[in-house]
Amino acid sequence: MKKIGIIGAMEEEVKELTSMLINRKTTKIAGLSVEEGVIEGKEVAIVECGIAKVNAAMCTQILISEFNVDSVINTGVAGALHDKLNINDIVISTDAIEYDVDASPLGDPKGTIPRMKTSVFKSDERMIKAAYDAFLEEDLKFKAYKGRVVTGDQFVADNETKNVLKNDFNGYCCEMEGGAIAHVAYLNEVPFVIIRAISDKADSSADMTYDEFVKIAAINSKEMVVNMLKRL
Ligand code: ADE
Repeated sequence: MKKIGIIGAMEEEVKELTSMLINRKTTKIAGLSVEEGVIEGKEVAIVECGIAKVNAAMCTQILISEFNVDSVINTGVAGALHDKLNINDIVISTDAIEYDVDASPLGDPKGTIPRMKTSVFKSDERMIKAAYDAFLEEDLKFKAYKGRVVTGDQFVADNETKNVLKNDFNGYCCEMEGGAIAHVAYLNEVPFVIIRAISDKADSSADMTYDEFVKIAAINSKEMVVNMLKRL
């Protein structure tokens, strides 16, 4: 992998990583600041893309087309869907979907994008392994699981939505960018993985736990990414 794109939605999710850059160079484009440099001997381009799917999709395409990244890591926080997840645990994506695509009146199941070959975007096996090996081999203070990341343009904070995402879409965790990044990576045939730390349980307490845990969860996600970079 020659240059790795690293995308986080919010400042909290990327600032620790950008502060580690060696030979840092900043380029402004389409409202984004692309921070290039080297971490763990790997060339990277790091961006705070902004929240939700359109920002994430545009950023991914710019990294691929303008900055020639040949793999993409999405780092950040997520709401837990699977019962075994606790706050601060990590989810490594096996695949990602955009659950809020709904053309069901035309006969397509919810979460399916009409006329695309697939709406389930598979993460790269080598990147999943690098992330999981980082968890197994480093002395990290959290647990890591592999599972499906489900993405939509909403902050999930009620049990009804949570149960739909868990039961109908087999989601492990929910967030607002990963599926869009995966979608663009798939169209460009660029490998990707999503690394998300759990900041809340996507239920009626989510807004409060999110505010309390977002910073520490973002740091956990960053630690995973750094340890993963060593292995790529
Ligand atoms: N990111 C972190 N927690 C989330 C939630 N509950 N819903 C959507 N995105 C999130």
